[in-house]
Amino acid sequence: MQEILTSLERRRAEARAGGGKKRVEAQHARGKLTARERIELLMDANSFEEFDMFVEHRSSDFGMEKTKIPGDGVVTGWGTVNGRVVYVFAKDFTVFGGSLSETHSRKITKLQDMALRNRAPIIGLYDAGGARIQEGVDALGGYGEVFQRNVLASGVIPQISVIMGPCAGGDVYSPAMTDFIFMVRDTSYMFVTGPDVVKTVTNENVTAEELGGAFVHTTRSSIADKAYDNDVEALLQMRRLIDFLPSSNTSPIPEIPYLDDAERHDDSLDTLIPANPNQPYDMHELIQKTVDDGDFFEIQEAHAKNIITGLARIKGRTVGIVANQPMMLAGVLDSDAARKGARFVRFCDCFNIPIISFVDVPGFLPGTAQEYGGLIKHGAKLLFAYAEATVPKITIITRKAYGGAYVVMASKHLRGDLNYAWPTAEIAVMGAKSAVEIIYRAELSDKDKIAARVKDYETRFANPFVAAERGFLDDVIMPHSTRRRVARALDMLKGKKLENPWKKHDNIPL
Ligand code: HXC
Repeated sequence: MQEILTSLERRRAEARAGGGKKRVEAQHARGKLTARERIELLMDANSFEEFDMFVEHRSSDFGMEKTKIPGDGVVTGWGTVNGRVVYVFAKDFTVFGGSLSETHSRKITKLQDMALRNRAPIIGLYDAGGARIQEGVDALGGYGEVFQRNVLASGVIPQISVIMGPCAGGDVYSPAMTDFIFMVRDTSYMFVTGPDVVKTVTNENVTAEELGGAFVHTTRSSIADKAYDNDVEALLQMRRLIDFLPSSNTSPIPEIPYLDDAERHDDSLDTLIPANPNQPYDMHELIQKTVDDGDFFEIQEAHAKNIITGLARIKGRTVGIVANQPMMLAGVLDSDAARKGARFVRFCDCFNIPIISFVDVPGFLPGTAQEYGGLIKHGAKLLFAYAEATVPKITIITRKAYGGAYVVMASKHLRGDLNYAWPTAEIAVMGAKSAVEIIYRAELSDKDKIAARVKDYETRFANPFVAAERGFLDDVIMPHSTRRRVARALDMLKGKKLENPWKKHDNIPL
């Protein structure tokens, strides 16, 4: 008997050794942890249970029958993060470069099926060289099976991808269909085709970092939601993220004990809006002063900074925050901001996370660059996302809410549940000067007359009361009471039930 037990331990040790000492050392030398080390950091201590550690590939082409490594390049299993069940797979770069074979894909799809059946989040840690080149179509089919499950699980369980090394070819599309992608600076990159193929096809000389590093994907392409300096930081932040997320679209949103007083007034907010309406202020300040302990998990913070999106808590319960940022392009909505906002709003709506919108928006960005780039359809994405969302929607207009952007930003007309404005709000079709220049074009040469008209327009519209008189706002609130009013609104909306008409699915303007 003892011999049998010892042989199990030996086989386990073999599997845990991955691609062997030399390859593990090379992994460490690059500043990367191994797949199992990553999982240890991500999961609660001693909670990880591995599946399929003895699985080997079945390929016999190109001499592969002589090279079999148990685990076949991916470590899969489940564990807990702060006590809640999470499924995880981690590509093991030390085994065939983490490349995906038929059996490797089956390990992942088994996990995806379990996560979906048992309604718990799944996290994928990527560090891999794409399809197992020796396997051909078996590997391609394997990817297809993984992709199909990503799509079925979308909107049912949270799916998170962390890119911690190379991620190329087939490996990029699975993360692209998950809810969030995170990257590690300097050690990770993502692209469909690498620098060599790019050189052959387009004659461009580009490094892996320039083509698909964390900087490119968090700033320009917006493929990645956030980047971290190293593996440890990335994994610890994933633990923090999981704490914000419900386990599925039918699970309650997490509720954690909170100490921050929900009745807390913040008098400094009464002077947040500068006297000059064209002067910016940092919307982060309002977010931090409203949510529990200023704890804000920002998503896509380096991309389209004119809109802020992220997760926070009020009275210990998760909320999604969407806010125009006057510090960047005066908080204008352009195509990038609209797409960023829309995706986040839809994420929150999938998972029953109430949305709080802080509005200070001068409108949509004019210009050929925007119009040629499809602003109409991109802007419509945000409009569509807010309009279809059935979660509690609370909106606070702090200053400008002009034109179409007023309507789009979770206005009453798009089923906003509670729409508040600060007394500094200005709700109008456009700014006073532009409005007067259009409706009094004939008087443009008379500067005094125009100045008087502008003053007139401001008096009439540069306030929240016209909208409040019509019931488009539920109340005009004191800035210092924002946290209290939002917290009370969320309590009141806890039982909200709202359903859209039955449909197979909608046709959001992609
Ligand atoms: C089999 C692979 C592999 C792969 C790497 N390895 N990629 N084995 N299939 N796709 C193996 C190497 O042979 C090597 O094995 C080990 O992993 C480490 O690889 P190195 O090249 O030594 O490492 P490094 O220099 O860091 O380069 C990493 C890399 C490079 C950039 C990922 O390996 C690479 O370019 N790989 C190929 C990428 C690729 O073109 N994949 C196919 C994409 S097509 P040893 O034994 O020496 O340790 C695709 C289509 C799917 O994915 C489409 C689905 C829709």
